[in-house]
Amino acid sequence: MERPIRIYPSLLAADFGSLESEVRRCVAAGADGIHLDVMDGHFVPNLSMGQDIVRMARHTVGVHMNVHLMVSNPHAHIESFVSAGADTILIHVEADSDLRATLAAIHREGIRAGIAINPGTDASEALKYLDAVDEILCMTVHPGFGGQEFIDSAVKTVSDVRLGSVEHGKRIDIGVDGGLNRDRVRDCAAAGANIFDVGTHLFRARDMAREIKRLHELARKTS
Ligand code: DX5
Ligand code: ZN
Repeated sequence: MERPIRIYPSLLAADFGSLESEVRRCVAAGADGIHLDVMDGHFVPNLSMGQDIVRMARHTVGVHMNVHLMVSNPHAHIESFVSAGADTILIHVEADSDLRATLAAIHREGIRAGIAINPGTDASEALKYLDAVDEILCMTVHPGFGGQEFIDSAVKTVSDVRLGSVEHGKRIDIGVDGGLNRDRVRDCAAAGANIFDVGTHLFRARDMAREIKRLHELARKTS
C-alpha cells in the first residue's frame, strides 16, 4: 500500500506575532498537519517553542501535530508534549537518552513515535530502531535554525532509509526537514520520502494553498 504524502508547514518560519492565525492559515491552505520544532539551547544552539505553542495549535485546528524534539533529554518531556496535544513525537538518535525506553514511553501514551537523524549520521543508526518507530525523519539541514540551504548528501540517507525499511518489510513514514522547495521535494520524494516539513518556502509563498497543492502533485508524481 502506498504511503500517504503529507505536507507539514514548519511553524518555526511563521510570524511569531500572530501564531494562532498562522496555524489557521496553514490549515485553510490545505496543510496535512503542523511541524513544531522544539529546541532547548543545548542539543542545538537555538531556543524556539515549547508545550504551550503545541497546546495553542492543538486547540486552534484539528490536524496532525508533528513534534520534533531537538533537546538533550527528550525522555523528560514526553508526557507534557502528549498532554499538550502531540500526535507524533520525533526524538534525535544523537540525543543523550535511552532511545528505546523513550520510544516505548511515546507509544505507551498512544501516539506515534519517530527517530530523527542529522545530516552526516548514517542511516543505519536510525534503522536500528526500525521495529520501534512509525517515522524516520532525515534532516536535510543541520538542526537549529530555519531558512538554511538544503544539504544534497542527505538525499542518499533518505534512499538508504527507504531501502533498509523495504528490505525489512517494515512500512514506515520517511520525513525530510530543512531547506525544502519544489525541486528538493521532488528529489526527496524520488528517494523515498513521503512527509515533507516545509518552513520558509511555504510561509514566504505568495499563495500558500497553491504551493501546498503543487508540492503534493510533485511528490505524488515522483514517489
Ligand atoms: C531546523 C528545523 C526545520 C526548519 C525547516 O532545525 O527542524 O523544521 O525549521 O524550515 P526551513 O524550511 O525554513 O528550512
Ligand atoms: Zn523540524
